[in-house]
Amino acid sequence: MSTKPTGGAASGPRLGGPLPGDLLDDGERLSRGQLRELQLDRLRATLRHAYDNVELYRKKFDEAGVSPDDCRSLEDLARFPFTTKADLRDTYPFGMFAVPMADVRRVHASSGTTGRPTVVGYTENDLSMWADVVARSIRAAGGRPGHKVHISYGYGLFTGGLGAHYGAERAGCTVIPASGGMTARQVQIIQDFRPEIIMVTPSYMLTLLDEFERQGIDPRSTSLEVGIFGAEPWTEEMRREIESRMDIHAVDIYGLSEVIGPGVAQECVDTKDGLHVWEDHFYPEVVDPLTDSVLAEGEEGEAVFTSLTKEALPIIRYRTRDLTRLLPGTARPAFRRIQKITGRCDDMIILRGVNVFPSQIEEIVLRTPGVAPHFQIQLALRGRMDHMTVLVEARPGAGPEQRETAAAAIVRGVKDGVGVSVEVTVVDPETLERSLGKLRRVRDLRSR
Ligand code: DLL
Repeated sequence: MSTKPTGGAASGPRLGGPLPGDLLDDGERLSRGQLRELQLDRLRATLRHAYDNVELYRKKFDEAGVSPDDCRSLEDLARFPFTTKADLRDTYPFGMFAVPMADVRRVHASSGTTGRPTVVGYTENDLSMWADVVARSIRAAGGRPGHKVHISYGYGLFTGGLGAHYGAERAGCTVIPASGGMTARQVQIIQDFRPEIIMVTPSYMLTLLDEFERQGIDPRSTSLEVGIFGAEPWTEEMRREIESRMDIHAVDIYGLSEVIGPGVAQECVDTKDGLHVWEDHFYPEVVDPLTDSVLAEGEEGEAVFTSLTKEALPIIRYRTRDLTRLLPGTARPAFRRIQKITGRCDDMIILRGVNVFPSQIEEIVLRTPGVAPHFQIQLALRGRMDHMTVLVEARPGAGPEQRETAAAAIVRGVKDGVGVSVEVTVVDPETLERSLGKLRRVRDLRSR
């Protein structure tokens, strides 16, 4: 890809190619058949561990009339009850831990939008497995020992920063633990320390990109070669925007606290065709969010994960609310992929009966000339009717006529592509709120 120097990366392979066989770990060398055997063993042990040590699981299994011994094949998992965020909230803070507190080395928590946070815990072995799967993800993204990894995911209770941190160390990389915020300083550190890899939310990458430009630095001239982006939905259009403005590979990392944190699934840099689920540790299913039935490969629905090796917080059939489909493996043939997440069941806006996802608006905004990739969706009531306004920033230098054309193009794009009428207001550059981590795209001003 780029002609950029590889910074301090000794004489390591150039970024962007397939992983050389000798860098695959033991799990990645399994055949699909071996993997399925391992999964069944681990699944049975996890169900037993959960049942024996967590009251909530024992109650739920008993109510559903299933016992861990009823799981004789991977398909039998469908007989077991789901776990939801509400279960974690109801047992706040530590009620779903399956080991004595003295064996829990670390906790993280996700704030959620309302109410109590969700608390998750890790034993020593859990932390080591987590570092392993994130290291595997970094290698799949093109990272090699000796590369410098700039981490702008927030450090703290959020799993992004520390999850990426220990994974990068495990991969033999040099970590730059920048955390989120202090954007101007981040740009200076990237200029001075010359990392090859950045791990950050895609929306904060845009904030950093603007800051490079504000400081008069061509973002294509930096040492960065790969961005590992996740923690929020982002589209193929956003990938193109970031790749072309920065001259880097943009790859997707997925995960959630309840399942482990970042590193549940990762896109390989050589194929960029969806995310391989690290199935030796996390068993994926996709279910119909309305009927709860398990869907076949290729059908779109809600991702559900079961941990296969976790000790402190075994998680059985966790309803993620994330929408995707399962696909066969490619770059790692034994591991199935999930398609890039298009949104969450609870992100869906129902506008006068039509389902609208923020990602659909993102696609349209990003292919419209004259406007920047910064937008916000506002929902309000006009009389009894729901009304959606999309606020989009003009690109610097876009005059009134270009702004008007852009607004009309977005209105038309949403009408044709999504099937609803929206209002579009093109605002001045740098007037919408910038992301410092996970971005809140939708403002709901309806009071019901
Ligand atoms: O966001 C873990 C993470 C950190 C993943 C850094 C990747 C990178 P939570 O705060 O628990 O954990 O939020 C989990 O974020 O259910 C999705 O809705 C969303 N999400 C995470 N990764 C992606 C992605 C972390 N690659 C929730 N694409 C998940 C789309 C994502 N959505």
